[in-house]
Amino acid sequence: MEFNGHLSRRGLFQAGAGLLLTAALPPLPARAATSNEYGIAAAPARARLGGSARPQTDVWTYNGTVPGSLVRLRQGEPARIAVENRLDQETTVHWHGIRLPNAMDGVPGLTQPPIKPGERFVYDFTPPDAGTFWYHPHANSLEQLGRGLAGAVIVKEREPVAVDRDLLWFLSDWRLTDEGGIASGFGNRMEAAMSGRVGNIVTLNGHVQEAEPVRAGERIRLRLVNGALARIMALRFEGHRPMIVAIDGQPCDPHEPEGGRILLGPAMRIDIMLDMQGEPGRRYAVVDDFYDDLSYQLTQLVYDEGAPLRAHPLDTPPGLPRNPLPEPDLAAAERHDLTLQGGMMGGGMMAGMGGMMGMHEGAAWAINGLSMLGDGHAGMEPALTFRRGRSVLLKLRNETAWWHPMHFHGHSLKVLSRNGAPVPHRQWQDTVLMAPKDVVEVAFVADNPGDWMLHCHVMDHQMAGLMTVLRVA
Ligand code: C2O
Ligand code: CU
Ligand code: CU
Repeated sequence: MEFNGHLSRRGLFQAGAGLLLTAALPPLPARAATSNEYGIAAAPARARLGGSARPQTDVWTYNGTVPGSLVRLRQGEPARIAVENRLDQETTVHWHGIRLPNAMDGVPGLTQPPIKPGERFVYDFTPPDAGTFWYHPHANSLEQLGRGLAGAVIVKEREPVAVDRDLLWFLSDWRLTDEGGIASGFGNRMEAAMSGRVGNIVTLNGHVQEAEPVRAGERIRLRLVNGALARIMALRFEGHRPMIVAIDGQPCDPHEPEGGRILLGPAMRIDIMLDMQGEPGRRYAVVDDFYDDLSYQLTQLVYDEGAPLRAHPLDTPPGLPRNPLPEPDLAAAERHDLTLQGGMMGGGMMAGMGGMMGMHEGAAWAINGLSMLGDGHAGMEPALTFRRGRSVLLKLRNETAWWHPMHFHGHSLKVLSRNGAPVPHRQWQDTVLMAPKDVVEVAFVADNPGDWMLHCHVMDHQMAGLMTVLRVA
């Protein structure tokens, strides 16, 4: 999974020449000589998602591959990423989870004009936090993400972390036809009011993977990214005891996942430490069994026959250094409720959507009675405004019958409680997965000025109204 810049760019321009628009921008080097500089082209390409036995799929990519180029940055060092639009529709890039200046947040109409076909936009920011992040479009998101536009961002710690290997599993969910094409029907209204567009094939780093080769005795840092439109995942590592060390890029107190299942909502990232305690020569399944009727084997950990790398597991603690997050002052915090409403209920009604104010054509969901539709556009009025530097405590109430990974831009949220019970492990998240009827309290310091989106990351839900804007002024 090393960065594959030059080769794939070259391949893209040769193979894709007929697909490209006439606008002849000078080619960007995929990665410049100095670190933290990238050129990323959003462009159509073809991918073998199902392996060599299956037909190729027409996809939309960053630099010709799915997932797109891995962007490696260094904590606290300026980054410069030039994005070129070689699609035939407008796009933007959002750097999900990175606490960056508002003008670099990639929300069309709200933080920047969209990047038109043939145009380029340069994103400039200094990532304050080390960790696992990702990037994706924030224009026509449902279709652009669903056709493959997504990639990982790894921000390296200042001091290297002591592991034998650092692996990334970028997980994507696709809805393919029998011929291998991406199924049409984005924005199906029924789906939008239910679980969203859950696909029929999950890829790991762009392919269906049968095996992840490992060696007995090694310690692996495994970065999990759920880049799906709607699919929630619950990963189980047969015969192993993963330790969660970071959530959404933010280190937490190392802990084992509840019930041995790593719950990963769309857009969430979880870093785990895996001490490879299996037997040389054996295979262990990694299973996703979030949906009762859709459980499948994601891959297998395949042990090398050779002797263990070390006789005993490492006894250094697996934790990661904390990022410089401002601690909210809970006693002084201003408090607000954000209530999620709508969606299909048992009888087919949209709960509470009937007489709601701000109810638009096409809305299936609302926050505090208001539905913001689509992706981001000019004139989105903030639902709440916070004075810069204030501590804020939000109570998120899910009154619906569906799961929602709720995401806030520009800040990380300290997760305080779930359904009245304190959340342990000092967890900070930018995407909080809420089960039906959950009530979750989060807190943060509103220290990053600008208009920031808060939305469900099930893309159909966002498009159909589960979105709002919060202003820090
Ligand atoms: Cu990945 Cu508006 O978010
Ligand atoms: Cu985001
Ligand atoms: Cu949702």
